[in-house]
Amino acid sequence: MDKHRIDQLIKTGRDFMKMPLEDPEYQSDQELKCPQPSLVKTPISLDIIDLPTHYHDLAIENDFLKIINHRKSDRIYSEEKMSLLAVSYLLWCTQGIKEIRGNNYATIRTVPCGGARHEFECYLSVQNVNELKDGLYHYLPMTHQLEFLSDKEDLKIYNGRALGGQDWANKANLTFYYSVVGYRCEWRYGIYAHRVALIDAGHISENLYLAATSIHLGGCAVGYIDQSICDEAFGLDGHDEFIFYAFPVGTIRKDPKQSDKDPYDLIMKR
Ligand SMILES: Cc1cc2nc3c(=O)[nH]c(=O)nc-3n(C[C@H](O)[C@H](O)[C@H](O)COP(=O)(O)O)c2cc1C
Repeated sequence: MDKHRIDQLIKTGRDFMKMPLEDPEYQSDQELKCPQPSLVKTPISLDIIDLPTHYHDLAIENDFLKIINHRKSDRIYSEEKMSLLAVSYLLWCTQGIKEIRGNNYATIRTVPCGGARHEFECYLSVQNVNELKDGLYHYLPMTHQLEFLSDKEDLKIYNGRALGGQDWANKANLTFYYSVVGYRCEWRYGIYAHRVALIDAGHISENLYLAATSIHLGGCAVGYIDQSICDEAFGLDGHDEFIFYAFPVGTIRKDPKQSDKDPYDLIMKR
């Protein structure tokens, strides 16, 4: 890539982080009174799993400062089984719906979100979780359920490939894959929607870090993904909805071997 092209792309990236130039004439679809898109995606599967909610049966650390101080990115997992209750707790802490405002106008969730648009959908790649068969799932936040989407025979190598060769993710019990449904936030914010959406995503992943830490699980936010592998696995068109963020979570390995630590050391030395 030549220097001019690189400079152009850097400028595009920086401009994306700024507020777009104000145009007093511009109106979003909400201002133009267009119909509101639905708050969540409709289930597509008949295989629905109710998630347990007796979270207090988990050994939840309740010293908040300790959770904050212990939070870190964990990429070395022991591959012990994880409970369905832990999965449910992580989903609740990151996307759980506490209230519906107005006439289906907005969901109020356990994370904040610009204009309460909650433009994300959460998908899971699951392996080694009690009461869940391995495979790909979609979270249904309205009913706090999972829908089973498909088997994936190659989960032991799939997540690493989907995350652009980050093979440490293959040992995670769960990998969260977050998609964005663009129009859900564009309807309200139009050309201003996209930088807000990325800011919104930070709250989800921080809640996930803190929730995982609070039940002694480890995980790591992942911004580097293989776009087409991720979108294809969850049947997304890559335009109206596409994966943009991932987060493997696993049981923490107490006595990691040097070979387990190698990828982690590399990241730390970069
Ligand atoms: C938006 C975002 C994207 C990240 N992407 C990756 C990634 O692709 N691969 C990875 O190993 N770590 C990734 N990380 C984890 C960071 O490397 C990590 O947070 C950083 O090194 C600081 O370490 P700590 O989280 O243990 O404090 C990401 C973190 C964030 C917040």
